[in-house]
Amino acid sequence: MSTATELLTAIKDVGTDPARGGYSRHGFDTSELELREWFTAEAGKRGLEVEVDRNGNIWAWWGTPGPDALVTGSHLDSVPGGGAFDGPLGVVSSLAAVDVLQAKGFQPSRPLALMVFAEEEGGRFGVPCLGSRLLSGATPADVALNLKDNAGNTFADAVKAAGLDPSRIGKDSEALSRIGRFVELHVEQGRALIDLDAPVAVATSILAHGRWRFRFTGEGNHAGATPMGIRRDPMLPASQLILSARWAASSVDGARATVGRIVPTPGGTNVIASAVDVWLDARAPNDGRTRSVVERITAAATQAARDEGCELTVTEESYGDTVHFDASLRDELSEILGTVPALPTGAGHDAGILAAHVPTAMLFVRNPTGISHAPEEHAEPDDCEAGVEALAKVLEKLAAE
Ligand code: GLV
Ligand code: MN
Ligand code: MN
Repeated sequence: MSTATELLTAIKDVGTDPARGGYSRHGFDTSELELREWFTAEAGKRGLEVEVDRNGNIWAWWGTPGPDALVTGSHLDSVPGGGAFDGPLGVVSSLAAVDVLQAKGFQPSRPLALMVFAEEEGGRFGVPCLGSRLLSGATPADVALNLKDNAGNTFADAVKAAGLDPSRIGKDSEALSRIGRFVELHVEQGRALIDLDAPVAVATSILAHGRWRFRFTGEGNHAGATPMGIRRDPMLPASQLILSARWAASSVDGARATVGRIVPTPGGTNVIASAVDVWLDARAPNDGRTRSVVERITAAATQAARDEGCELTVTEESYGDTVHFDASLRDELSEILGTVPALPTGAGHDAGILAAHVPTAMLFVRNPTGISHAPEEHAEPDDCEAGVEALAKVLEKLAAE
């Protein structure tokens, strides 16, 4: 029997990033594959039967796999330089909750599965929640297979190297139809539970959000030999985009817009770039507001590109409308757990993708730093145990129905 903290300690050295700090664990890279093996062994110790679906998501079954299963899980990958809890806390809590239930002699009356989703953060191939998007058909197979990582490897190359068959990637209605209800436990990614002085909450909704790639093309040239007046430098409209993201999101109620990644080609100190790729992450409480933020930013970037004699192409790489988690499942969780706060979140989750198909709920565990997607992300051992206890109670009740 292990606690969530003991299980997190067991994987604390996998995928550490000495350059950025924190962890860089990305879909099907060496560290994520090591974590997947670790999870498979932990599931085996608990007598769970492990299988990997066509899209690389791991399922660990307690009891015979079947339809209308109660499923819980999260992901093991991270953002570049991320924290130890976003994803892994949900996975280790699912294992620890099974320990709690097995120690009590509980036997589920319906199939129960723990899941690990592939490439949730999109830290390697750019599209978030790739495992659940492929499973549910939200991202078509041909789009996914052609995604490239920074080294130029395609998603097709990566899944092949991980022992999967690229020709079988894509919507998997049979696997999806086995999920009756889904519950994801996750570290909180804000400060609400600090302010409410509570260790655990249930989720209400997720902001509408997406990722857009802006590619500015100009003329590569010499930094010293090229007079200022004849330059076509794509870094200028790129910087205008970054500034306009702050301005546009600040002028729309509840919106957020971020540029966290910018890649100049070729990227030399003494080289005027020939092209610059900038990724915009934009979110707002509904589709209209999110689209309006992106339109304002695109208009500013288009004008700035024109002023500098550059070309601009904009590609929507992923998008998901606002998610409202199933109200009756949330009420059921609140009843099981007593009075717990209900919180909206600005972060995306596999639970948000699955919510379009099955009743879905989330549990959040307090994060005393209020910081996430950074090494400072944290959850105290007592709060992790409160999360495990809450998840175990939920699984016990829902798997007995
Ligand atoms: C994932 O954590 C996201 O919200 O981008
Ligand atoms: Mn995340
Ligand atoms: Mn996450």
